[in-house]
Amino acid sequence: MTIPNSKKIYPRSNDFETIYLKNVITKTNIKVGDFTIYNDFCNDPRDFEKNNVLYHYPINHDRLIIGKFCSVACGAKFMMNSGNHTLKSLSNYTFPIFGEEWDETLKPKDAWDNKGDIIIGNDVWIGYQAVIMSGVKIGDGAIVGTRAVVTKDVPPYTIVGGIPAKAIKKRFNDEVISCLLKLEWWNFTNEKIAKNIPFIQAGDIDWLKNL
Ligand SMILES: CC(C)(COP(=O)(O)OP(=O)(O)OC[C@H]1O[C@@H](n2cnc3c(N)ncnc32)[C@H](O)[C@@H]1OP(=O)(O)O)[C@@H](O)C(=O)NCCC(=O)NCCS
Repeated sequence: MTIPNSKKIYPRSNDFETIYLKNVITKTNIKVGDFTIYNDFCNDPRDFEKNNVLYHYPINHDRLIIGKFCSVACGAKFMMNSGNHTLKSLSNYTFPIFGEEWDETLKPKDAWDNKGDIIIGNDVWIGYQAVIMSGVKIGDGAIVGTRAVVTKDVPPYTIVGGIPAKAIKKRFNDEVISCLLKLEWWNFTNEKIAKNIPFIQAGDIDWLKNL
């Protein structure tokens, strides 16, 4: 049994497309949990903040929070609030950010509607080129299909796909989901996780119930 080192950037020798995302985050309003992976075969995965977290200007104070043990596939994007031109205005044009041009008293913050933080739970798998819209919360163990556009909250252990993303199915029955949510295996010690990987991988529901 080996004990992993979540402090490094590349978990696999000779694979520079896959990173422990937490270790490349520089912004205080982005939080990522241990062991969450980002893979990028088009761009340098270390440029995640620039390439994948879009319209994230400090003025809206919105946060992107991603839990532990998530898998974020290449090109998944998080649309933060400075992408939401306000719908309260009669115009779509962002006059408030061009105060120098039009009216110095305009407040830049009024250019956008703030729908809140994006919060991703633990053990969530976000598929290739999926887009998560601002304000959306995705529960533990959920899956976002390839190229989905997620506009609404996703319950735990639910698979969603399409535009706008809709539930395709649950990963497990309600009893198993409830066990998993109580168990929160992602908060076990690394030693305990390592010891139990064979049961987790085997989809061993009896192991789950007997814990
Ligand atoms: C969402 C996903 C997990 C579903 O897997 P699955 O349950 O084995 O999928 P199935 O092929 O049995 O499809 C189940 C249904 O979902 C639909 N579906 C599958 N993937 C979908 C997607 N990305 N968007 C919309 N609908 C999708 C299928 O058409 C099918 O619909 P139906 O029940 O009306 O016939 C999978 O298709 C997917 O998108 N995985 C992500 C792959 C990826 O991006 N990997 C990146 C590298 S990590």
